[in-house]
Amino acid sequence: MGKISIIGAGNVGASCAEYIAMKNFAAEVVLLDIKENFAEGKALDLMQTASLNGFDSRISGSTSDYSKTANSAVIVVTSGIPRKPGMTREELIGINAGIVKTVVQQCLEHSPEAIFVIVSNPMDTMTQLTKHISGLPRHRIIGMGGALDSARFRHYLSIALACPSSDVDAMVIGGHGDTTMIPLLRLAAYKGVPVSQLLSEEILEKVKADTMVGGATLTGMLGTSAWYAPGAAVSALVQSIVCDQKKMMACCVPLDGEYGESDICIGVPVILGRGGWERIVELSLTDDEKAEFQESARAVRSMNAAL
Ligand code: LAC
Repeated sequence: MGKISIIGAGNVGASCAEYIAMKNFAAEVVLLDIKENFAEGKALDLMQTASLNGFDSRISGSTSDYSKTANSAVIVVTSGIPRKPGMTREELIGINAGIVKTVVQQCLEHSPEAIFVIVSNPMDTMTQLTKHISGLPRHRIIGMGGALDSARFRHYLSIALACPSSDVDAMVIGGHGDTTMIPLLRLAAYKGVPVSQLLSEEILEKVKADTMVGGATLTGMLGTSAWYAPGAAVSALVQSIVCDQKKMMACCVPLDGEYGESDICIGVPVILGRGGWERIVELSLTDDEKAEFQESARAVRSMNAAL
């Protein structure tokens, strides 16, 4: 039971705090936001649900007092502006890079041992930025995109299969962008049965397409970026770290030769435990999947060049 700090108390940050508290695995959750009294208000509102929802985590909020985050086991960075309808994640790069840089530097001063989970968009590039400015060992830097995209993939598969998402096993690797993510249809399974044996090519392609624009569809409907699934994805991966569960999830991590790539942060399956991401799982990809991964890495690299 450690301390988890969440920077940015907007929709995504507050959802993370709520799900983490509801699962009752953190002693303390600290929310920070530059908007005066905002994080304090969200924390107070959440704390007033404790007796109703039966959790014991202490949630507190602060307006930019980073000393409150001292000695966090995990720091979740959600700061920055979210997508508006019609915007790509990539268009946020200029503004969010400055914000994320300041946030990471301030957090590091107070929690030099923390594991960083990056949510701010464009998530792959913000994870890369965190790697460069922090100088942290690579296993302590994790972007959350693949965990979210995989959950959306499982959802769309569950609709096509008319079954619950929990019966579906599927993963999305590559970048966290509408055109860069790679839903791995070949490896997706319904209780161990490959979905390619159960669904037509046409339906599989539709599931893949829906998954890839999963975030954009919601931005169009909600007028801003989604928050329930992003918050739940973060809370699941933070739980695997804090509780040393060793779960396998697709996350954006710095590669050093794995999957034939180096000097890039991109989504691959990793094992999450107390040390952060503890191991990269190297899937044997087909030549087509390898080509898709290389193309995704190329696109992420060209976005990183805008940093
Ligand atoms: C999404 C944002 C959080 O995919 O990137 O909804």
